[in-house]
Amino acid sequence: MSEPSDRVLYIVTCATPAARDIGKLVTLAQDSGWRPFVIATPSALRFIDQPALEAQTGAPVRSEYKEPGSPDVLPPADAIVVGGASFNTINKWAAGISDTLALGLLTEGIGLGLPLAALPFLNAAQAAHPAFGRSVKELREAGVKVLLGPEGYEPHVPHQGSKYLYRYPWHAVLAAVEVSRA
Ligand SMILES: Cc1cc2nc3c(=O)[nH]c(=O)nc-3n(C[C@H](O)[C@H](O)[C@H](O)COP(=O)(O)O)c2cc1C
Repeated sequence: MSEPSDRVLYIVTCATPAARDIGKLVTLAQDSGWRPFVIATPSALRFIDQPALEAQTGAPVRSEYKEPGSPDVLPPADAIVVGGASFNTINKWAAGISDTLALGLLTEGIGLGLPLAALPFLNAAQAAHPAFGRSVKELREAGVKVLLGPEGYEPHVPHQGSKYLYRYPWHAVLAAVEVSRA
């Protein structure tokens, strides 16, 4: 068991089958000395085991913006990773849309200069859409480590994503923010 750390990591997850395994990334982060918190997109709530993640992190899973005037629930992040980054969230992040808490944190994270990394989970048909290539390029130019390709995730054959979850490289997205910190 690693010692509790002051390094706060926000783990964002989206509405893809990878979200079902987001607890694996929480464990890896804890073992690497991070204090991780989970932020799910509203659609991702259907994929995750929220009570299990709350027990694992000792904190609420956030998915909605707080009420105006209410205090922040989570400590500020030192880095943010997106595990199971959806086609939708990647495109909206690049376009500067912040209509979910997850996107609000991610879009602000660029301006704050936080270490940011995203491990996509999408199929080859989604990845072939012209907007996706533009989004990945723009996010990389803004300093986000988008782990698409041999060093991260190769888009899967449509409708077969769940088959590839066993080899989803969760460790890579953590390593990417460790490198950013160096
Ligand atoms: C069963 C199921 C599986 C899905 N798998 C994926 C996927 O692997 N990758 C992806 O980008 N979207 C996938 N989607 C579509 C997303 O859930 C959808 O685009 C959603 O709006 C994403 O919202 P979010 O980016 O706010 O999480 C899937 C949807 C369902 C219902």
